[in-house]
Amino acid sequence: MKEKEIKTVIKECQVEELSSADRELVERAKAMTRTSYAPYSKFHVGAAILMDNGEIVGGSNQENAAYSSGTCAERSACFYASARYPGVPMKKIAIAAWTRLHAAEDTPDAECFQHLPISPCGSCRQALLEYEAKYGPIEVILYGLDRTYILPSVASLLPLCFTEF
Ligand code: THU
Repeated sequence: MKEKEIKTVIKECQVEELSSADRELVERAKAMTRTSYAPYSKFHVGAAILMDNGEIVGGSNQENAAYSSGTCAERSACFYASARYPGVPMKKIAIAAWTRLHAAEDTPDAECFQHLPISPCGSCRQALLEYEAKYGPIEVILYGLDRTYILPSVASLLPLCFTEF
């Protein structure tokens, strides 16, 4: 039996080290956390997608009392992007998360972003992958107060992914 290794290369940096265009995308993802509807989890996620036409499309998690009817920020962003600009490739997605859940009462809002990056759930990876498989790689920028991760593609987050569509 052979063993195969699947390798994912993640770049790690401080947000200040990103290009100004990437910092702007991160700022848009951070701003989108304020549009999140998360009365149940109180965990506010924002996503911003840079389109090939230069536009930035945002999304945020939208929860629902029937829990499974809600959706994550990444899917709300990529579905809206595809509806707004059908057929236009998505070049990059930035993701940020904000919560006061474990913060002291006097913590300023700006310090309530997650210290470590959060990464899209499996369903969001699969949803993003479909656009990537059709139109080309989507770079993934995962923002955290302490560090930011950059991945070259959605597929790099989804080894042995299903692309037979
Ligand atoms: N959530 C996202 O929007 N994106 C992620 O990458 C992980 C989780 C949302 C789903 C739910 O509304 C809340 O965060 C708590 O899980």
